[in-house]
Amino acid sequence: MDLPRPELFDFHGISLTHYFTDNWENVQNFQARPDDVVIASYPKAGNTWLSHILDLLFFGQMSPDRQTSIPLYFRVPDLEITFPDFQPGTDMLNNVLTSPRLIKTHLPVKYLPKSFWDQNCRIIYVSRNAKDSVSSYFHFERMTAMHPEPGDWSSYLHRFMEGKMVFGSWYDHVSSWWEKKQTYSKLHYMFYEDLTKDTGQEIDKLCTFLGLSPSAEEKKNILSRVHFTEMKTNKMVNHSLFNGMDFKISPFMRKGKIGDWKNHFTVAQNQEFDEHYKNKMKDTTLQFCTDV
Ligand code: A3P
Repeated sequence: MDLPRPELFDFHGISLTHYFTDNWENVQNFQARPDDVVIASYPKAGNTWLSHILDLLFFGQMSPDRQTSIPLYFRVPDLEITFPDFQPGTDMLNNVLTSPRLIKTHLPVKYLPKSFWDQNCRIIYVSRNAKDSVSSYFHFERMTAMHPEPGDWSSYLHRFMEGKMVFGSWYDHVSSWWEKKQTYSKLHYMFYEDLTKDTGQEIDKLCTFLGLSPSAEEKKNILSRVHFTEMKTNKMVNHSLFNGMDFKISPFMRKGKIGDWKNHFTVAQNQEFDEHYKNKMKDTTLQFCTDV
C-alpha cells in the first residue's frame, strides 16, 4: 500500500500519529468484559510473540483452524488502531464472538480505558530492555508506512532518549506499568529476555496467572510453534499478509535476540545512553537484562 508517512504529534502529553488517535473517544469509552485478557507493551517488546502464545493456550485445542486461517492481528486485535481498509480495533473487538477476547495495546498505563480496571480484567505486560527495544523499533519504522520515517540511527537514538516516539517515552511506559503492578494484582509483568531464555518456564507462569493447565503434550506443541524460526515462516503470525509493511526493507520477525543492540550502538553512543538511562530510571526498582 502506498501511503504517506504519518506525522508524529503531541497528544495528551505523548507522541502519537493519527492512526492511533483517530478513534480516541471510542477507545477511551471501550466497554471491557470481565474475562478480557489484555496484552500490553511498548512497541517491539514481543507483543506478537506473547499474543501467539496466548492464542494457542486459549484456542489451540478448541479451534485449531483459527491459527492456520486467520492472521494474528485479527485474532488479537489492536485496541487503538485505525488503518485504511481495516475496521478500527474497537469495532473488531466488539465483533469478537469467542471468549476470552485477547486484546493488544501499546497504550501507556494512564490511557488504558477505565472499563478494564472497573471490570478487573487480567492484563499481561511484556517489557524489553531499552537498547534492544530502540534497535528493533528503528528497523520496524524503516519498513512500515504506519509510522513516521525513522531518519538516521544517531538522531533516532536521541529521539528515543527524549521520548519522541510513537507511544511516547519508553522510560515512562515500562516504569509506570511496573508501578501499576504494585497495586493491581491482576497484572502479570514479564520480560522479553526471560521469555527468550526459558520460554517453557514463562509459559508456566502465564498459565498460573491465567488459571490454565495445558497437558504436557499441548505445552510441547505450543513451545515448538512459538519458536522464532517457526514464527518467522508462519504467514499467519509474521505480518507478511499485512500490506502496510515492506519486507524488502526489513522483515517483521527480524532477529529475535537479546543483545542485537551491540550491532547498532557505537561505544560513544553506549556511554551517553547509559548515563542518560541511569538518570531516567533512578526512581524505579525495575531492572533489565541487556545481554545473554
Ligand atoms: P527484533 O526486531 O529484535 O527481531 P513486537 O511484536 O512487540 O512488535 O516485537 C517484535 C520483536 O519481537 C522483534 O524483535 C521480533 O523478532 C521479536 N519476536 C517475535 N517473535 C519472537 C520469538 N518467537 N522469539 C524471539 N523474538 C521474537
